[in-house]
Order: sequence, then C-alpha cells, then structure tokens
Amino acid sequence: MGGWQNLILHGDCLTAMKHLSNELDEKIRLIYIDPPFFSGTEYTLKMKGIGDASSAPALRDTNTYSDRWNGGLEEYLRFMKDRLGAMIELLHENGSLWVHLDWHVSHYVKTILDDIFGYSNFVNELVWKRTNSPKSQSRGFGSQHDIILLYAKNASEFKTHSIYRKHDEKSLKPYSYRDEKGRFRLIEIEAHGIQRSETRRQFEWEGRTAPYLYKRETLDKWQNEGIIYRSKNGRYSKKQYLSDMPGVIVSDLWMDIPPIQGASKEFTGFLTQKPVALVERMIEAATEPGEIVADFFAGSGTTAVAAERTRRRWIISDSSEVAIDLAESRLAKLKAKYQRTTFN
Ligand SMILES: C[S@@+](CC[C@H](N)C(=O)[O-])C[C@H]1O[C@@H](n2cnc3c(N)ncnc32)[C@H](O)[C@@H]1O
Repeated sequence: MGGWQNLILHGDCLTAMKHLSNELDEKIRLIYIDPPFFSGTEYTLKMKGIGDASSAPALRDTNTYSDRWNGGLEEYLRFMKDRLGAMIELLHENGSLWVHLDWHVSHYVKTILDDIFGYSNFVNELVWKRTNSPKSQSRGFGSQHDIILLYAKNASEFKTHSIYRKHDEKSLKPYSYRDEKGRFRLIEIEAHGIQRSETRRQFEWEGRTAPYLYKRETLDKWQNEGIIYRSKNGRYSKKQYLSDMPGVIVSDLWMDIPPIQGASKEFTGFLTQKPVALVERMIEAATEPGEIVADFFAGSGTTAVAAERTRRRWIISDSSEVAIDLAESRLAKLKAKYQRTTFN
C-alpha cells in the first residue's frame, strides 16, 4: 500500500484502463459501473442559480454526457464489450464486477458478460427499486427498478459478507412471542409443503414423530440451549430472538435504499446520480478496508465518496469534465487525497 494514491482519470475509460494495466501494481477488488443505459437521452447537470424574495432560483442546464448512439444497439454493445473486456483484466482473482443497468439493455449486456466472465461466474441479478411512483403508461407497466449484474472473476473463490438492513414494521411482526430472554419468532424445523417429499425420513424426537429438517444431534443441541419451542398441539419450532439478529438479511431485492431526488441531501444536480448507500452496500459486501475499488463511469463520483467513507482505496474515471469537476468538489468536502490525470 506504500506510495498509493487514489486516482481520478479524466478521459475515455478504455484509455484509462489501458494506462492502468501498465501502471497498476495491484489488482482491483471491486469494480462498480453505472454506464450509459442506451436510454436515448442527452443528460445535463442542473445547476441552481441564485434566487431572491421576488423570484425563485432558476435551474441552469450544462451538458454532461450523451446516451444517444447513431449506430444503434450494435454500436452501444460494441462499446460495452470493449470496456468490459478491459475491466476483467484489472480485476483481482477474488474480485467482482457490479454492472448497473435497466430494462433497456441489461439482458444484452448479460450475454456479453457471460462470454467474458463465463456463465458459471455469474453470481446475482440484483433488483434495486429506484422509484416509489412509476409513471402510468398506456402500454405495459411503469418501470420501478434497475438491475445490477454481479459477476465474480472466479465464483468458486468469491466470498461476500452477509449484509443486514434495519428492521421495519413488517419485518418485526413475526417477533410476536416473548420469554425471559426477550422477543422471538418461530422458525420451522419440520418439513412442510414441497419439502415434505416421500423420501424425507420421519423420526421420533422428544415424543413427536415428524419429517424433521435437522439431525437429531442438532435438535438435542438446541433443546439444551433452551431455544426449542413446543406449541399447544405438540409441534416443535426453533426460537429466533430479535436481539440475536443484527437486522433483516438483505436478499437480491433491494427495496430499502431510496433514490436521489431533487430534495435529497446528497443531490449534486447530476441527473443520473446514484445513492452513496447503494455503492456502500456493495463495497461492504465484497471488500475489506484498504482494498481497491474502482468505477470507470464515475459521473458525480458516488463510488469514490462511498470508498472514502468505508476506508477503501479508489480509482474513478469519466469522460465528462463536468462530471469530474463535480466529483472533485464532493471529494474536497471529505478532504480526500488523490491524483488527477487527463487523457485525450
Ligand atoms: C449514469 S452516469 C454515472 C452516474 C454515477 N453513478 C453517479 O452516481 O453520479 C454515466 C457516466 O458515464 C460517463 N461516460 C460515458 N462514456 C464514457 C466513457 N467512454 N468513458 C468514461 N466515462 C464515460 C458519462 O460521462 C457519465 O458521467
């Protein structure tokens, strides 16, 4: 880590990655990218003018990047294929790539990623609920989610930490039992429904014969620990105490991270800005403090901010000067140290 400098690379990320492949001594643990989505939109930065008592502040638009492709889908997919191919070369053997897209092209990009990484290294398709109020449509249904495709360089070596979110009213509801150790819920230990196949052996335990999901020794251990609950009709379950759970385990459905909106504290005016909490979750799941995190389509610098806050080293690149300037102003507030290089 000696002599390390966080990096801001201004220019096409393909050039930036070629530079890194020659210069970087260490491989990257996690790459998150939020590239153009093939949305057909010209994006701008909304900058607030100064208002006074007689007039509200006006919003001024500065161009940031274009997501219009004259060569259509073919050109877009070629663009992505070249850059995704360069990313895998920079990844650590235990590293991962998280690609943020939506309905426009996530399925096409997945097939490219399957070719580059190998289908067996595909780990997850994460669904991020990015709005509470989908637009009403005369055809089909309003879209409410983005997709994040997660690939490991080598899935058999790749490990993630379990991530928990805070409890809410709904997740607390099942914790409706209480004893001297506190609030708890019941976890089934007998097979039900399709788990209850004919091949599952039943056995007698503590006076009840049932298709138990666990071995006798495990049930005995839980009984000794005092965490077996017997209902009035004689069925056994396992107690799970609320105080033993750091929260609700996060699945591939991410509904709890609100999007950036005009009124969000984090909002920089960059229209496709993503929440820091979203990238922090990925970083915390798949890296350790001190490891290197990169984002080659950095926009307003969300990934660098998330990496600073979670004490990771970072590299970001973007071809838009407006985006890079914005990222620098966010990083200045965190007193982040880095080196900026421009590629033409
Ligand atoms: C969706 S935005 C990223 C937003 C970012 N996640 C954030 O939270 O602010 C996509 C970014 O990719 C950048 N970009 C587009 N083509 C690029 C290229 N060839 N190399 C580097 N950056 C590029 C755009 O300038 C834009 O800032």
